[in-house]
Amino acid sequence: MAGMNILATGSCLPERTVTNEELSHSLDTSDEWIRSRTGIAARHIAEGQTTAGLAAQAARCALKKAPAGFDVSEIGLIVCATITPDDHTPGCACQVQKELGLDGSVLAFDVNGACSGFVMALQIALSMLEDGQTALVIGAERLSSILDWSDRSTCVLFGDGAGALLVQKDSRRCVKAYARTLPDKADLLRAPASGAIAMKGSGVFRFAVKAFSEIYEHCVETEGPLKNRPDAVICHQANLRIMEKACRSHGLGMDCCFVCLDHTGNTAGASIPIALDEAISSGFLQRGMDTLLTAFGSGLSMAGLYFRY
Ligand code: ACO
Repeated sequence: MAGMNILATGSCLPERTVTNEELSHSLDTSDEWIRSRTGIAARHIAEGQTTAGLAAQAARCALKKAPAGFDVSEIGLIVCATITPDDHTPGCACQVQKELGLDGSVLAFDVNGACSGFVMALQIALSMLEDGQTALVIGAERLSSILDWSDRSTCVLFGDGAGALLVQKDSRRCVKAYARTLPDKADLLRAPASGAIAMKGSGVFRFAVKAFSEIYEHCVETEGPLKNRPDAVICHQANLRIMEKACRSHGLGMDCCFVCLDHTGNTAGASIPIALDEAISSGFLQRGMDTLLTAFGSGLSMAGLYFRY
């Protein structure tokens, strides 16, 4: 697949932080249980903010960091990964298009790929762009709106937020992409239209570790100009133990794996772009590093992308 140049990243986390300790007041749980099983210490919960509002704020944040001279009118495509849009239609991407004052020459649409959605959205954007054209690719979620706050086995895992990337298609660079969905495993993780997220946690855990390996084999351990060992790994931020087990199985130390779920929880489609933004802002991810994005989620689905940042 022809490659990409990430021009800028941005993210937006709602102001309100809910700690494990706070959850233990209303649920039969504890900071120790949540932290030791998942690595999560806190999550952000939107109060009075919409999914499109979070998405637009992440997009503005990315635009502020764009290279000098970049104009918002250079965006030709907006793709937003979300399973929690404010409305069935128009989609979140269309609302961001309006918020940013972009005219009708721009195409905007949403992708429903759950936690793999952002990587899928990036793959779709790259396949639609011509060389040199720019897309705004967003992941935005308000998962708090589809949680059963009395179900301790799910609600402690998730959070709200948004992340955005300004990406330019660059055919001189190489990107390795992989994605697939497994409908026979769909029952392990569902969020019905009129209900809350329900999950068989241990089955999803096992799938996630296998999905990492499958993505790694297809994207990293194949011929091409990129290194056969990534400098940086940005996993879907669902569970620290999943990341540790997956990295260990390929001989990767956790020093190459970026972790921010301690303060975000699992933000589904928003998790990878938030992690990318934080990895870049903190200096963890530097230009020239061969970087692997790996995601898994409902569907069940998996999606990966390997590129040089
Ligand atoms: N606090 C205290 N106890 C709890 C909690 C809680 N918050 N939640 C569940 N428990 C209890 C259960 O009731 C169960 O008790 P029982 O044995 O008496 O029935 C017990 O803890 C289960 O414990 P473990 O088997 O040790 O749990 P496990 O180590 O499997 O961890 C977890 C559970 C964290 C959910 C894990 O399986 C996991 O992370 N799975 C992957 C989930 C995931 O990544 N989902 C993301 C999907 S992304 C998307 O597309 C939306």
